[in-house]
Amino acid sequence: MTILVTGGTGYIGSHTAVELIERGYEVIIADNLSNSSESVLDRIEEITGVKPKFYLIDLTEREPTEKIFEENKIDAVIHFAGLKAVGESWQKPALYYRNNITSSVVLAEVMAEHGCKKLIFSSSATVYGEPKSVPISEDFPLSTTNPYGTTKLMIEKIYTDLATSDKEWNITLLRYFNPIGAHKSGLIGENPNGIPNNLMPYIVKVAAGELYQLSVFGNDYPTPDGTGVRDYIHVTDLALGHVASIEKMTEPGVHIFNLGTGKGYSVLEIVNAFEKVNGVKVPYVITARRPGDIPMCYANPDKAKSELGWETKLGLEDMCRSAWGYAVNKLKK
Ligand code: NAD
Ligand code: UD1
Repeated sequence: MTILVTGGTGYIGSHTAVELIERGYEVIIADNLSNSSESVLDRIEEITGVKPKFYLIDLTEREPTEKIFEENKIDAVIHFAGLKAVGESWQKPALYYRNNITSSVVLAEVMAEHGCKKLIFSSSATVYGEPKSVPISEDFPLSTTNPYGTTKLMIEKIYTDLATSDKEWNITLLRYFNPIGAHKSGLIGENPNGIPNNLMPYIVKVAAGELYQLSVFGNDYPTPDGTGVRDYIHVTDLALGHVASIEKMTEPGVHIFNLGTGKGYSVLEIVNAFEKVNGVKVPYVITARRPGDIPMCYANPDKAKSELGWETKLGLEDMCRSAWGYAVNKLKK
């Protein structure tokens, strides 16, 4: 079975490519390298022994996207490609709408023309906006608080309409919670450009001495220690959620799953675990809340467990150890 992985040189895409290749799938990667590097293909080869076929293309462009389907018999697509920085999406909303939505529409049109109607889309827990309660189930009301999140919600809607109009479409919308950590080899991981926005990449840079200290955004939330609580999921578990989804793509229609652990950790719990597991110091200071942040967000992952037979296996220690392992590996190079 041949799977096209868009955004496959990126963080989650590369981990998913590895898990697919290790299970005998043929993987083809398409990426414009706007937020990743071609060297990831060599790392994937180092881990799996297979270097995936690669198309350096922008998925907003129709012709190069068509070329992939003309040159290969694609059975299913996992669509990771997209821009994902919340802050940047406020500065450049048009870029986010054009890149994320146009690429998703072009991809679906080209797929349909070539009779490939199995599609898995990377959505996000951000589509739940400010949830009224936790844990969050798939049937919770949807809303967004930033342009990035709106692109995810709009693409979910576009793909749902496609499946309504044409009963052959088999579309899975996967709503990720907070992926962190890296592959156990230390060869692939999260590699944000510049100063990270997200918690774990920031912690890693503080521990490595590249940034002075972590700002903990608020300790007056209605949570056990006052700091924000999130559902952190190991990126390898998340990748395996995609493998489970591919294996269960038998029924046409739209299928929606939360991919999370069901357990929330606070910012200070993450900092403490990281320090303990890795024997490093992460100096921090408490600062004001970050605008737009919610107090608590964690998944009800029961649907993925019962329908996909998937649940997370790796815990917080694995997440902290592997995130640091990847960083140390990079520092050595
Ligand atoms: P990433 O930036 O590491 O990977 C995305 C890849 O898509 C990059 O390699 C980038 O170069 C590529 N890309 C972007 N626009 C493209 C285009 N027009 N044509 C071709 N390639 C393009 O991000 P990630 O963390 O691996 O996220 C993957 C997907 O999961 C994204 O859609 C993201 O929005 C979604 N997601 C991520 C998180 C997270 O916390 N990382 C959470 C929820 C959802
Ligand atoms: C953020 C995005 C969300 C996106 C997700 C994954 C915002 C408002 N939300 O979610 O839309 O889907 O990333 O990309 O940007 N924290 C600190 N100090 C830091 C960084 C974070 O205290 O330097 C805290 C935050 O307040 C939060 C927790 O750590 O409580 C996690 O933050 P982060 O990793 O940015 O993820 P989310 O806010 O959940």
